[in-house]
Amino acid sequence: MNFRSSTIGAAQRGVSTAVLLLLIAVVAVVSAAVTGLLTNIFERKQEAAAPFTRLVEVDENTTDPAKWGINWPKQYDSYLLTAQPTRTRFGGHGGSEALPDQKIEKDPWLKKMFLGYAFSIDYRDRRGHAYMLVDQEQTERMTKPQTGSCLHCHAAVMPLYRELGGGDAMKGFEASYKYSYKDLNKKLHDMGHGHSVTCADCHDPKTMQLIVTRPGFIQGIQAVAKSDALAPYAPSIERWRQTDKSKPYDPNKDATRTEMRSYVCAQCHVEYYCSSQMPLTLPWGKGLKMEQQEAFWNEMKFPNGDRFFDYKHAETGAPILKAQHPEFELWSQGVHARSGVSCADCHMPYGRDGATKVSDHWVRSPLLNISRACQSCHKQSEEEIKTRVDLIQSRNQDLLQRGGKAIVAQIEAINAAKKEGATPEQLTDALELQRKAQWRLDFIAAENSMGFHAPQEAARILGEALDYARQGELAAVTWKTPRAKLAAAPAPSAPAPAPAPARK
Ligand code: HEC
Ligand code: HEC
Ligand code: HEC
Ligand code: HEC
Ligand code: HEC
Repeated sequence: MNFRSSTIGAAQRGVSTAVLLLLIAVVAVVSAAVTGLLTNIFERKQEAAAPFTRLVEVDENTTDPAKWGINWPKQYDSYLLTAQPTRTRFGGHGGSEALPDQKIEKDPWLKKMFLGYAFSIDYRDRRGHAYMLVDQEQTERMTKPQTGSCLHCHAAVMPLYRELGGGDAMKGFEASYKYSYKDLNKKLHDMGHGHSVTCADCHDPKTMQLIVTRPGFIQGIQAVAKSDALAPYAPSIERWRQTDKSKPYDPNKDATRTEMRSYVCAQCHVEYYCSSQMPLTLPWGKGLKMEQQEAFWNEMKFPNGDRFFDYKHAETGAPILKAQHPEFELWSQGVHARSGVSCADCHMPYGRDGATKVSDHWVRSPLLNISRACQSCHKQSEEEIKTRVDLIQSRNQDLLQRGGKAIVAQIEAINAAKKEGATPEQLTDALELQRKAQWRLDFIAAENSMGFHAPQEAARILGEALDYARQGELAAVTWKTPRAKLAAAPAPSAPAPAPAPARK
């Protein structure tokens, strides 16, 4: 037994030595490989961290993108492509490069809805970022007096705000609504900042980190943070609410990089009000949902104490709320937002240039770039992805067109009642219902994804629009019949969603 065991012991020792030697060899090889890999990763990280040699100095007042382009030619080259025409079934623009198509001609019910407002004169397809300033300067809506606030989202306006505020951009912003568009636009050009959205609007010139600069957005997102609305699309807001809140929520300090990849776009792609009566306002004090914004506007008063509205409908006299491109708000209610998928993931997808990644600054419809915009996460074929989007958009378009018919029927019914002698008092319910229906219909019509950013939320809103328009039509048709006040309270809406699971 001893013999056997000692033989086995010797044999085992022999095996152990061999194993040990092998192990040492393996470890040596592996550690060499790991070291190599680490060095490689380190080098790539270094490359990625400083993927440029700074050839010229740029600062927050450098608004000419061409100058930034000397340091970051890849991003600049793709930024320049925003001057190219883009077109998909619902996205980009029709018409010529001289003039994009009129939306109000494609969908005449839009024109009917906007009677009494400049949007009934000229309302066109959007196009690339390169055009934002000229398209604003040239719209026939400018034949009506407009405020300097319009520049907030259409130009490299920050140096002008600093100038107006004696160095303080927020102060300058708050003064800017008092200027006419013409005067402020002239000042912008005179100062040499007559450019569309520029690099410094989204990047810290020292570090190239993402930043938000637009005062309207900063005030707006601070109001969201102070509200008690759930914000699953922005976990940093939930985290800030856990603090003692002695310092206001600061997107540039508190937000994660993922959030910043949407916030930079939310500086402009949001609902707003601007006029010469008060500073530009984003209606977010109760949260981003359609009815939270509606409630905000409903509680708002003009400085003279009058009830807030965007315009009085030229035919019916209803005090209407006009919705404008609520992309950030609709996105915030969808599954992509809950999953931490940002605007830039789809609209500025990464490409590679050797070891460095380059974000596509040709901001456009992701359907023109499905392989990079969607297939980084979704493994279906390009055809299948296209079909899924088209299904969502077709359904949304069908409901939207039904809504358009319903709103026209409602307006006609009110007009008929007026002809029969109905007074505004007798039409109170019908006019209130027009305000509610139009706000909902416009919220989805003015949103630019044709329902894609949050398909079910879009359908829910359109369903309510249809209901209120038909209720309003009924109220107008039966104006002679006295009745208890129509239930003005909104139909019970879906319960609030639970917060999204925590993300890094
Ligand atoms: C999951 C991908 C995805 C995310 C995230 C996303 N979008 Fe979109 N977006 C789309 C798709 C798809 C369309 C529809 C494009 C079309 O019809 O051609 C669209 C349309 C648009 C359009 C109109 C495009 C055009 O060509 O006319 C704008 C503007 C827009 N999105 C802005 C935003 C903003 C701002 C955010 C973030 C708040 C955002 N999107 C988040 C996928 C996305
Ligand atoms: C300074 C304001 C501003 C910022 C910031 C901004 N946009 Fe825009 N965007 C606009 C305006 C204005 C237009 C319409 C320009 C026109 O029609 O002349 C536009 C147009 C677009 C279009 C339509 C492009 C086309 O070819 O039809 C898309 C898509 C878009 N923006 C997405 C985004 C995304 C995504 C971000 C964030 C990465 C973003 N925008 C940031 C103001 C802005
Ligand atoms: C909060 C940001 C913001 C403000 C303020 C703003 N815009 Fe825009 N504007 C946008 C965005 C985003 C788009 C592109 C999306 C779209 O067309 O719906 C756009 C598109 C446009 C377009 C091209 C499409 C169209 O509507 O014909 C014109 C013209 C325009 N704006 C004029 C104005 C005028 C005039 C004002 C001031 C009354 C103004 N904008 C204020 C963000 C803004
Ligand atoms: C509307 C906002 C916006 C504007 C305007 C903008 N960028 Fe960016 N940029 C982004 C976003 C979003 C990223 C991705 C950053 C991230 O994920 O950290 C980015 C990334 C970058 C990066 C880092 C490397 C990369 O490509 O991801 C550089 C460099 C850069 N941009 C340069 C520029 C230059 C130069 C301009 C002007 C010609 C410009 N950017 C204009 C939003 C913008
Ligand atoms: C960064 C990752 C990512 C990118 C990029 C992305 N998605 Fe998604 N997408 C998701 C996640 C996560 C979900 C949620 C489904 C889940 O959790 O299984 C989702 C859900 C969807 C859904 C079903 C839900 C809905 O809203 O109807 C569609 C359709 C969809 N994506 C289309 C697209 C398209 C089209 C693009 C490109 C324009 C795109 N996605 C880009 C991650 C992504």
